[in-house]
Amino acid sequence: MLNEALQYANSHRAAFLTELTELLSLPSISALPEHRSSMQRTAQWLADQFTALGLHNAAVNPTSGHPIVTAEWLAAGPDRPTVLIYGHYDVQPVDPIELWHSDPFKAEVRDNYLYARGSSDDKGQLFIHVKVLESFMKTAGQLPVNVKLIIEGEEEIGGPNLEAFIETQREQLKADVAVISDTHMLRPDRPCLVYALRGLCYIQVEVTGPARDLHSGQYGGAVYNPIQALCEMLAALKDRDGRITVPGFYDRVLPLSAAERKILAQAPFSEEEFKRDAGVSGVWGEKGYTTKEQVTARPTLEINGLWGGFTGDGPKTVLPAKAAAKISCRLVANQDHLEIAELLQNHLKQIAPPYITVETKRLHGGHGALINLDSKYMRAADQVLQRVFGHAPVYEREGGSIPVVATFQKVLGIDSIMLGFGLPDDNLHSPDERFYLPNFYNGLETMIRYLVEIGQ
Ligand code: BES
Ligand code: MN
Ligand code: MN
Repeated sequence: MLNEALQYANSHRAAFLTELTELLSLPSISALPEHRSSMQRTAQWLADQFTALGLHNAAVNPTSGHPIVTAEWLAAGPDRPTVLIYGHYDVQPVDPIELWHSDPFKAEVRDNYLYARGSSDDKGQLFIHVKVLESFMKTAGQLPVNVKLIIEGEEEIGGPNLEAFIETQREQLKADVAVISDTHMLRPDRPCLVYALRGLCYIQVEVTGPARDLHSGQYGGAVYNPIQALCEMLAALKDRDGRITVPGFYDRVLPLSAAERKILAQAPFSEEEFKRDAGVSGVWGEKGYTTKEQVTARPTLEINGLWGGFTGDGPKTVLPAKAAAKISCRLVANQDHLEIAELLQNHLKQIAPPYITVETKRLHGGHGALINLDSKYMRAADQVLQRVFGHAPVYEREGGSIPVVATFQKVLGIDSIMLGFGLPDDNLHSPDERFYLPNFYNGLETMIRYLVEIGQ
């Protein structure tokens, strides 16, 4: 079964690429309402693939937002494990479009990279799983394990519908382990197993001063300017050591053990490369932690956007009525994103200067997660990665968020094995997003071997 599937995957590379190009041509941008019909079409496209492969019960499940695609194949029998494969078919908006070197929805191969929006995050990676299942079904006519699939369309917008869906489908989604390819490796020859993700809490704050925009000559000097007020409030959210000042913010943060700090310190990481990738001349962060710890194992607070007053060309002597900002925090395991949102929202109200009113709203959020390193599914992943890439995997904490991992733990009681095949410079969420094709092919081999391994 193994060799036939590997051979099928090898000899169908060109066909896989053509089909992936078709999937990437569907502009499934979850954030933009005008792309709603593309979301439906993409979901249907995937469900049709699952049916064509011979999977059972492929369905496009409507939600109040974008549909969730499910399918299954349970004929391996009760003495084989059941693997739940997760991915997301939604992608980020493409702006600034003028910085792309090719059309984001016309995939183009340049120097072994496939360039398109979603090529790495996550359509290209999710497609690995689809083609792995095909490689077994078209050769052996069966899979080495039972498989369930859940592919969502609201990951990039912190979608509120997935958790509710998983709760109502708790029985149908029951599995032994989940597998997700939506993270990256360190280098093409350095595979990673991600064992921690950060959570996310995202809010928006609007401050109001005067009832309407005022003439700054008539009123300036005697009215608290809301942009000034907001800047003071935002500046007060961190101290000079980079610590977040919101009371209670760190209460549930698990301290880093000496053993874990040692693991993180050994992970291959170059501060010079980090600075170069970020385009900064120096790093700045919470005192007492290494850069690696700051971006993976510590919670953060970032101002994502800030606006107010007159921003058009030329001057306008105005004392504005309002100012607003978007703020998000990356959280670590045991912080609760709802609790943090509340602490932050209350704190902003507390520290507002006089005569300024503050309104806040929660935009979205998700919990962080920590995965048990000591399971047979983790050990099998370690073995297979080593075999395919010629190097043992590096165990990594990921600074980004994949909220479903905590949901699977909470609702289904299972861990997720994060076998990601992206690279750090895939330009996720940016112009010229790309996927390194050798990683696509190695990903196919890895997943074929992995399913055979855990099916034994
Ligand atoms: N695939 C990413 C998560 C990720 C980012 C993994 C960087 C590895 C490296 C995922 O699609 C993502 O972008 N998540 C969002 C979640 C949010 C919108 C709830 C994130 O991290 O901002
Ligand atoms: Mn993703
Ligand atoms: Mn993403």
